[in-house]
Amino acid sequence: MDKNTDEKYIITGGNPLKGEVLIGGAKNAVLKLMAASILAKGETVIHNAPDLTDVEIMLSVIEQLGAKTHYDKEKQTVSINATDITEVTARYDLVSKMRASFIILGALVSRCKEAVVALPGGCAIGERRVDFHIKGLEALGAKIKIENGYVHAKASKLVGTDIYLDIPSVGATENIMLASILAEGSTKIQNAAREPEIIDLANFLNTMGADVQGAGTSDIVINGVKQDDLHPIEYTTIPDRIEAGTFMSAVVATRGDAIIRNIYPAHLTFFNNKLLKMGANIKLVEPTAIEVSAKGRLNTVNFVTQPYPGFPTDLQSMAMVLLSTANGVGIITESLYENRFMQVPDLRRMGADIHQDRNHAIVKGVKKLTGATVASSDLRAGASLVIAALMAEGTSEVENLYHIDRGYERFENKIKLLGGQIERVSTHSDDTNLLGGLNEARL
Ligand code: EPU
Repeated sequence: MDKNTDEKYIITGGNPLKGEVLIGGAKNAVLKLMAASILAKGETVIHNAPDLTDVEIMLSVIEQLGAKTHYDKEKQTVSINATDITEVTARYDLVSKMRASFIILGALVSRCKEAVVALPGGCAIGERRVDFHIKGLEALGAKIKIENGYVHAKASKLVGTDIYLDIPSVGATENIMLASILAEGSTKIQNAAREPEIIDLANFLNTMGADVQGAGTSDIVINGVKQDDLHPIEYTTIPDRIEAGTFMSAVVATRGDAIIRNIYPAHLTFFNNKLLKMGANIKLVEPTAIEVSAKGRLNTVNFVTQPYPGFPTDLQSMAMVLLSTANGVGIITESLYENRFMQVPDLRRMGADIHQDRNHAIVKGVKKLTGATVASSDLRAGASLVIAALMAEGTSEVENLYHIDRGYERFENKIKLLGGQIERVSTHSDDTNLLGGLNEARL
């Protein structure tokens, strides 16, 4: 994959997407599994690791701690040998490029009883505080200081306790889970996040020898184990439900008919129900494959983004594209982030009729969108603009592809295989290095 940050897509809309597409491993699971790998000495191997910039950034964070890593992109396998962890610092230049790397805090505190991790700033889609992560670690007995933009966490020992989260934060649940794996006694996380990625992390840790119970419910109990109980493992990441939902949206948007493989349909129940209400057809063809199709004008729907199992915020922008040409007026309420309607001005440039009032978007379906030059402002907004361009009449250019490369592996190849007309072209001849130009990208 070319890492040029000045690339764009040229997309000609109007082709119904048809055929089959294979969904990759879940970005938001694999990044956490990689962090968790440092808990066990020896070499852990993670399969179904998608070819994404974010995976490479997480590998850089882990390597910097002294672990040896290897990434076989062909086999989609990441190996992490964490026998020696010699550093406890995760630098700002890496954390600022990918806020998910903040998850290393809990893993380092567990393994080394000390961590110095750059505090991620806000990001384009919202303030994204980490106060629950920090309060959770303090409750376990870590002494926390915030100095010069870094969180310094130190603990002579960690002791299990009950921790209540004000909101079911995915990252806080994961950081506390990781920090409590080797604590004395039991930790109970109440109002825990219930996302499938949390279950994947718990399964990974349990395979490694940890004792995590109740993942997938609001009460997770972690019974502390000893360092010697943990061993390196081989593990396969769950499929990416957001990538799957993105392709389902693209097929519906173009009134296509395609089979989506390597998907766990139960992870998308809420989203599937909304697509069905819009008039799409969804058929289970195998336990991990569905056929999606749509014909004619879609019905509009209203929806509110919610923590899992509610409507996923990461698919809000895709659904907005579908509503933009549906019959009637649909209301979208974004309840997780302060600023996750960044696709709206670009969709308007393509002819959409969307009124935004704080965290509500009122989408009045128009007959069609028309091609325009637009720019990704974050990962999911970028993907939604690609879908809009595939659906629109005429040709569009979608700029700032580095956002999309962070979370969608071989996006244009998969779209092309489905018959979409999409080309990646360079707007500059001089390639930048892997991490260059990603400063705005902090999802
Ligand atoms: N929040 C706080 N304080 C905290 C933690 C969270 O106020 O200490 C707030 C955040 O500001 C946000 C809300 O709680 O408004 C939800 O945040 P959460 O912690 O649940 O999200 P996250 O762990 O930062 C993960 C995904 C996001 C996804 C959200 C919600 C990863 C790497 N990221 O973020 O994915 O939107 O959960 O499902 O797992 C994406 O993939 O495009 C993406 C943004």
